[in-house]
Amino acid sequence: MDVSHADEPLLLTPGPVTLSARVKQVMLHDYASGDERVLAELAFCRRYLVGLCNGERSHTAVPIVGSGTSGVEAAIGTFVPRNGKLLIHTNGIYGDRIVEVARRLGMPQASFRTAPFTPPTVAEFEDRLKADPAITHVMVVHCETSTGILNPIEAIADLCKRMGKGLLIDAVASFGAFMLDARALVFDAAVTSANKGLQAPPGLAWIVAKRSALEEAKGNAQSLTLDLWDQHQHMERTGMFRFTPATHLILAMGEALREHQEEGGIEGRQARYRASWRRLVDGMRQMGFRTLLDDADASPIVATFHEPEDPAYSFQALYAGMKRRGFVIFPGRLAAANTFRIACIGTVTPEDIGRALDALADTLDEMGVRIAGRAVAAD
Ligand SMILES: Cc1ncc(COP(=O)(O)O)c(C=O)c1O
Repeated sequence: MDVSHADEPLLLTPGPVTLSARVKQVMLHDYASGDERVLAELAFCRRYLVGLCNGERSHTAVPIVGSGTSGVEAAIGTFVPRNGKLLIHTNGIYGDRIVEVARRLGMPQASFRTAPFTPPTVAEFEDRLKADPAITHVMVVHCETSTGILNPIEAIADLCKRMGKGLLIDAVASFGAFMLDARALVFDAAVTSANKGLQAPPGLAWIVAKRSALEEAKGNAQSLTLDLWDQHQHMERTGMFRFTPATHLILAMGEALREHQEEGGIEGRQARYRASWRRLVDGMRQMGFRTLLDDADASPIVATFHEPEDPAYSFQALYAGMKRRGFVIFPGRLAAANTFRIACIGTVTPEDIGRALDALADTLDEMGVRIAGRAVAAD
């Protein structure tokens, strides 16, 4: 069977991300749910994720089947008690989604929006918390992928600790590439997806949770499948999921985490993403593009660019031209109209980004697009 993927386009999108052939290869096996190899891989994944947060003494990791949003929904539904109230910050699409999840759960909540292109200040959180003592928990997105902005999670965690509020972090895009150090930063739950910085296939969400907070969360969840307390107690007793386990995904996740380890963990992975992002942003600026964010506020996960104003430009034509040349790029989001995004996560290297820049210059040239009155030239 041919399992090479050399002719598939490289995904320069913030999910799904391109996986290594090695990770895809380990899924070519069928295992029963109690098989020793699956049990061992699941245990390894759980240990590894807790280790990434230095949480061996305080935290545990619980997977559930679903995408990142399922993880967000599970965390909110499990950790916020029925008499609790959640404060949600949003400066983009994924913050807005948390508000929607809490609304659907019928949970008492307060939300506040800050400007999408600059990080919020701690004072903005403090004002809301002081004004509403009923708030028990705060939820914030670490890297808001709709723009790429990195929110100041350490300072927000300090505030929550000082004011005795539980903190839930949407770390879906940042986990594995950024440190959330449980020894320095107090949080009840950090939610991630298998398929961003961890570079495993989509389909599992993971929650790294403070053990004491999870123990207190017994009976909170109104959902059976998204009850992290129940999933956790079952996993601790049996080493396995409550329902049919995603065996292929567990094997691939284990392999992806070994790759993460071999790359040098968070530091190594972030260094590659940063090198790719630097090359991307510099190369695009050289062609005349402008980034949506200042570099100081941007994360190396994804970069957002303003579209050229030339009437010869259309995102659809750019997308199609790039795909023909072997790269998939992403449209902008409503929060940032007339933009498009290029991500640096997955198995993408700075050399891939160099080739993508050439492909972009070529495509724009073919479309007859000029930027700021100039024909486009790659670096
Ligand atoms: C920060 C953040 N939160 C949540 C999500 C939602 O994850 P999913 O699309 O896997 O449900 C994403 C997806 O890109 C994200 O970037």
